[in-house]
Amino acid sequence: MSFTPPMASIAPRTWNRDNSDFFISTDPSLLSIEAVNAAYARDFLYWVKPFEEDVLRQMLHGSMSFGVYKRISSAQSQDELNAPSADNTEQIGLARMVTDGVTFGYLTDVYVLPEYQGHGLGRWLVECVSEVFSKQNMPHIRRNMLLTTNDEMQQFYAKILDMKLVGHEERKDIGADLVFMCARPGADTTTSNNSE
Ligand SMILES: CC(C)(COP(=O)(O)OP(=O)(O)OC[C@H]1O[C@@H](n2cnc3c(N)ncnc32)[C@H](O)[C@@H]1OP(=O)(O)O)[C@@H](O)C(=O)NCCC(=O)NCCS
Repeated sequence: MSFTPPMASIAPRTWNRDNSDFFISTDPSLLSIEAVNAAYARDFLYWVKPFEEDVLRQMLHGSMSFGVYKRISSAQSQDELNAPSADNTEQIGLARMVTDGVTFGYLTDVYVLPEYQGHGLGRWLVECVSEVFSKQNMPHIRRNMLLTTNDEMQQFYAKILDMKLVGHEERKDIGADLVFMCARPGADTTTSNNSE
């Protein structure tokens, strides 16, 4: 099975924090099919199960995937540490934006592995998504969307991405009600141009 090349028109971005082993990147070469599938196999991701490798590769590379990475100490030199690669990093989180890279983004598969949760990485991850999918960065952006479940997550997305609740879906199969949330970054309500 062939897969669509990464979004060639959008340069990868990386976000670092002082004195931290963690960083966030949209560089597709860092993504780990094995690490994401291992996360998908765990119970804390209640909505997803592992995929065949080719299928997951298409999903990750056909979207704008924000990976959360931990630098690992097997790097031989400072130069290697400064130039992260799939060999000297461990993927510990993900946010996948299904997008045309211009007008629309559907945010899904947001996670930080449980052993790294509660230290601000999830908030940082969604802030990076918000920075990229903003009117300032994508002047033609019309709408960002997502599905979620609990009140805490709704408040989380409302605060960082300015998401508003627009609908519900009863999902007996996963034992939860899903809510649809939408944002129109920088929407100009005085004109109807490009505002669907
Ligand atoms: C949601 C998730 C990515 C947050 O990652 P994290 O690194 O623990 O997040 P942070 O430490 O930055 O905390 C961010 C906010 O998330 C909230 N939060 C943390 N864990 C949460 C959880 N299990 N459920 C709901 N909200 C949670 C906190 O209230 C916090 O809000 P605050 O910054 O206003 O205090 C992580 O808990 C996770 O992977 N959960 C399982 C997968 C999931 O539910 N993903 C979202 C699907 S819509």
